[in-house]
Amino acid sequence: MKNIPYIDLHCHLDGSITLDIARKLAELQNIELPADDAELESKLSVPESCESLNEFLECFALPCSLMQTKEGITESVRLVQEKNKEQGVAYLELRFAPQKHCDKGLTQTQVIEAALAGLKMCDLHTNLILCLMRDKGNEKENMETIELAMKYLVKDGGVVAVDLAGAEALFHTDQFAEPFKKAKEYGIPFTIHAGEADGAKSVRDALDYGAVRIGHGVRTKEDPALLEYVIKNKIPLEMCPNSNRQTKSVDDMTKYPIREYLAKGVKVTVCTDDPAICRTTIAKEFEYLEKKFGITAAEKKNMLLNAAEAAFTDEATKASLKKAIESAF
Ligand code: HPA
Ligand code: ZN
Repeated sequence: MKNIPYIDLHCHLDGSITLDIARKLAELQNIELPADDAELESKLSVPESCESLNEFLECFALPCSLMQTKEGITESVRLVQEKNKEQGVAYLELRFAPQKHCDKGLTQTQVIEAALAGLKMCDLHTNLILCLMRDKGNEKENMETIELAMKYLVKDGGVVAVDLAGAEALFHTDQFAEPFKKAKEYGIPFTIHAGEADGAKSVRDALDYGAVRIGHGVRTKEDPALLEYVIKNKIPLEMCPNSNRQTKSVDDMTKYPIREYLAKGVKVTVCTDDPAICRTTIAKEFEYLEKKFGITAAEKKNMLLNAAEAAFTDEATKASLKKAIESAF
């Protein structure tokens, strides 16, 4: 088998800050970090004892603190792309919430411009997804992200879509009708994290808003009619197995529905979510699926083809990714 052209459609910038990247960002900005690697690593990744998405999300504080300047953001986008390239990724969609990078006075516009500058510094084919955040009192910030997504939106080579991230069990999807109504009106494609820490209704609400992909979607099966809808309408699910294991999206991984979804014809894609926080890579996610669920080479190829088709990119890129996948298997 030739080198596999991996595709990662669900990868958070702030969840991609590995030990080496953190040290480089800290040095660039004169920020002090724990000298001990083990101590730093424990602050940059999820503990095995993690019980929920809420606890998982606490791991983002340190990486976010390293990305509060233009330099920190530009360099992080460059370094994360370089790392993905080394790991065999051929096409990457990197997501981040501009509003989480404004703690030291940057505007969302400056954050996006800094990320776009970083994007140009690596030749890995990468697009950006701007996340809105599940929170309270940030309605203005979320609407601003939508306006900026519209301003910067391209078909390929920059900002290509929006998303909704954050604590799904605390801030339900039905609270975010307004920004997604606007996104739909503007014709901005969007995916939404749903059916991860909350149930099938969250996925239904996301699809009702007009989401064209679902982040995770693990719990879609709790509503069989909804699962049928997802199959019939070929809605891609961005599944992130190790993240789902760590956040306890299912209480027991033997109940993880990936085999069931594949057998029923769901457009499953495999993604990392937060490679640094989850201590994973895209290749490791596939290895895990092979070992744990006996996922075959044919199924792997199928999921990569699903990812190529689901990518927020132009038709020419999708066709060339599919061709590369076909020739790798
Ligand atoms: N869910 C919600 N928000 C996130 C996640 C996730 O899995 N990862 C990073 N931000
Ligand atoms: Zn995510």
